[in-house]
Amino acid sequence: MSTTRAAASGQAVYADNVVRLFALAAVLWGVVGMLVGVIIAAQLTWPELNLGIPWLSYGRLRPLHTNAVIFAFGGCALFATSYHVVQRTCQTRLFAPGLAMFTFIGWQLVILAAAISLPLGYTQGKEYAELEWPIDLLIAVVWVSYAIVFFGTIGVRKVRHIYVANWFFGAFIIAVALLHIVNSAAIPWGAMKSYSAYAGVQDAMIQWWYGHNAVGFFLTAGFLGMMYYYIPKQAERPVYSYRLSIVHFWALIFTYMWAGPHHLHYTALPDWAQSIGMVFSLVLLAPSWGGMINGIMTLSGAWHKLRDDPILKFLIVSLSFYGMSTFEGPMMSIKTVNALSHYTDWTVGHVHSGALGWVGLISMGSLYYLIPRMFGRTTMYSVKAIELHFWVATIGIVLYIAAMWIAGVMQGLMWRAVNPDGTLVYTFVESVKATYPYYVVRLVGGLLYLGGMLIMAWNVVMTVKSGRAEDARIPVPAPAPALAHA
Ligand code: HEM
Ligand code: HEM
Repeated sequence: MSTTRAAASGQAVYADNVVRLFALAAVLWGVVGMLVGVIIAAQLTWPELNLGIPWLSYGRLRPLHTNAVIFAFGGCALFATSYHVVQRTCQTRLFAPGLAMFTFIGWQLVILAAAISLPLGYTQGKEYAELEWPIDLLIAVVWVSYAIVFFGTIGVRKVRHIYVANWFFGAFIIAVALLHIVNSAAIPWGAMKSYSAYAGVQDAMIQWWYGHNAVGFFLTAGFLGMMYYYIPKQAERPVYSYRLSIVHFWALIFTYMWAGPHHLHYTALPDWAQSIGMVFSLVLLAPSWGGMINGIMTLSGAWHKLRDDPILKFLIVSLSFYGMSTFEGPMMSIKTVNALSHYTDWTVGHVHSGALGWVGLISMGSLYYLIPRMFGRTTMYSVKAIELHFWVATIGIVLYIAAMWIAGVMQGLMWRAVNPDGTLVYTFVESVKATYPYYVVRLVGGLLYLGGMLIMAWNVVMTVKSGRAEDARIPVPAPAPALAHA
């Protein structure tokens, strides 16, 4: 994009071009993915909104929404921040910047292929792993390249220590490679059709081992990497407890791997496997809260900054939602609770308290820190607009998740209500009718959240216009202190 003044002066600079591109792509895909979310929320309220066109039908747009928000918005935010953080904490330029640029182009091709193939109805039918085998192959190539760039940069680092944020980004990269390759194993049956390599309950178990670890690693570990870099930076305070960060890292990555069966309670999966899933999910509360406490307590002694720094508000409130959803998740994994919550909108409420509250807000806060610095500025074009975005988004989340919690518990109770003679008190359609007002409230919440994202997009455009793309200089390492006896 630019030959910068720093580069022209001969001083080594960070490879920030790819960071800039991924950061801008994250904002663009955030708008698109959330818009599709709003459309499907409206379709659940007024089903005729599909206009009778197959590629606008709910069944095709729903996976488009999940793929766009998780892999396009979340994925681009993770690429941008990991490339930014790994260079700063290793005080070195990205290893193989050309390959890093390939990951940008390759990932955008994956997103475009998803945006075309999902509405056309091509799908493997596995949630969060819908894309057909040729796209899966491209994902694998991009991901291996990402691993080479990230770990290569760690390999050529100029500081001995590997900062904890990189541990989380590293675990996310390795785990996602493993999950994607194992779960996507399939026998191709034509250009856009394949059959899973697994069958029956094994297929279900592999899929939800993947699905839950997509939550644990794609939607959690990478974002914890953001937390460990951007909260201390924005608060100008050191991480509260470095020891806690290491303990919670190992506990989290060990425990997540075993929790998948909680998605398959009361299915053909053996009972003992379901119980293991439940127990590990309950244990997961501890490392999750360890991470949350570590992030929030990093503000110790600087709480006053929360009052007038909207970026810190994004970062800290995201942790409150993280704490909420990682308390709710273990509760929902208890089999008797799951008997009520499964199949209801309670699950959708849980998902979005994690997705909008945790993943969304931490990404937005981190991007608000990163984007101005990538364009030679110290702040965004409008700090007031960040504040406005924060409040609009937070009110949107509260409306969305409160509506889904009430709707979910109501549906669960209606479906299980029986008359003394054993017949059902309510027909299914009565529960759908009762849910209607909550779908309207969820739609309003979603519109607010999307509105916030549009404010962000405007602010980003103005920031880019008023700044200049500039790669930051790599600090010259301070000379090693002389040894006492030398
Ligand atoms: C300690 C952490 C967590 C535990 C133990 C947990 C547990 C659960 C449980 C029991 C379900 C319902 C399964 C079902 O009845 O089908 C669920 C669904 C889900 N959770 Fe969590 N959760 C946790 C954290 C999170 C976070 C932080 C996020 C998002 C960032 C998240 C995203 C999801 C998603 C996307 C689903 C829906 C999966 C589907 O059926 O498509 N979870 N979780
Ligand atoms: C404007 C914001 C959003 C709106 C209006 C919205 C709306 C929706 C709707 C209507 C569904 C389908 C629910 C159902 O099938 O009953 C859904 C599913 C889902 N959304 Fe969103 N969404 C938004 C943002 C996000 C974001 C930012 C993420 C992730 C970072 C996300 C992740 C998901 C996931 C994982 C599911 C599948 C849930 C499940 O299977 O239980 N959404 N969303």
